This record gives sequence, structure tokens and C-alpha cells, in this order.
Amino acid sequence: MLNRLVYYSERDRSCSDEDVTRIIARAAARNRPMDVTGLLVADKHCFIQILEGPRTAVSMIFQDVMRDQRHKNVVIAECSEIEQISCPRWGMARLTDPTKIDAAWNRVARRGVFAPWPLNALQLRALLRIAIGDAVTPPREPLFAAAPA
Ligand SMILES: Cc1cc2nc3c(=O)[nH]c(=O)nc-3n(C[C@H](O)[C@H](O)[C@H](O)COP(=O)(O)O)c2cc1C
Repeated sequence: MLNRLVYYSERDRSCSDEDVTRIIARAAARNRPMDVTGLLVADKHCFIQILEGPRTAVSMIFQDVMRDQRHKNVVIAECSEIEQISCPRWGMARLTDPTKIDAAWNRVARRGVFAPWPLNALQLRALLRIAIGDAVTPPREPLFAAAPA
């Protein structure tokens, strides 16, 4: 049985860019042999992660992630059974470049600053799909109205 888990969290102040590099290396090494794939968006202040794969494997990984002191206030935005994996099977892709994060954000929200909290599961997934560089046709209208800056 395949599952998709999407969460966001607050990046701890102590979590350096080197830590993020280490996390991604760890995730890439561990997830792929477990048939888990996904994407980690690492902003200065928050993380968004999508994990897709066999239910037990996704759960095992997520339990470790939940305990990790490099972030806090983990919020599950989506946990669902899926027919097939939507992320390429790369283990763990990353999006850490602020310019690219902003570009993905602008395609979804068109205004305001990047933040996962106001997004529902569908909007978050749209953001992640854009981030993944999937063939998503940009919506004609913003998928939601961001709070005025
Ligand atoms: C935001 C975030 C995302 C993470 N994602 C993964 C992941 O996808 N896979 C993984 O194995 N570890 C991930 N980690 C690291 C785990 O929390 C944990 O440190 C690691 O699995 C422990 O491995 P070790 O005890 O063998 O060093 C993540 C950590 C953070 C803070």
C-alpha cells in the first residue's frame, strides 16, 4: 500500500545550511532503498516535505523526522493512500535556493511572502509539483489569495 505524507515544520534557529545538506544526504541514502521518494523544501524559516512510498516505510522515516531537534512544530498537511507515486523515484530531491522557492511561490500565490501555513493540502501539493518541476500548467488565477503583505 502506497502513502503520501506532506508536512511542514519550523526550522530551528540552530539548523545551519550544512545541517540541511546533511539531512538531504541522509534522506537520499536511507529513503531510496526503502522505496521512498519525495521532496524537501528548506526555507530559512521552515521546511516542507513530501514523502511517498510504502506505508510502513514512510511511517518509519517520519517517526525519526518527528524526533529531529533541527525542526519543531511539525504539522501534517496530508496523509493519504495513493495509487501511484507522483514524485520521480529519486530518493529525496531538494529545493533550497531562495530564488527558486520564491519563483514556485509566485506561481501559486502571485503575491506575499513564502509560507506554508495558509495553504491547504491541494495548494501545498501544487506548490510542491511546481517545485519538482513537474509538467504542471500554471493556473490562470492564483490558487488562493495570499494575505496582503
Ligand atoms: C526536515 C527534515 C527532514 C528529514 N527527512 C529525512 C528523510 O526523508 N529521511 C531520513 O532518513 N531522514 C530524514 N531526516 C533526518 C532524520 O530526522 C534523522 O536524523 C535520521 O533519519 C537519523 O538517521 P541516523 O540516526 O541513522 O543518523 C530529516 C530531518 C529533518 C529535520
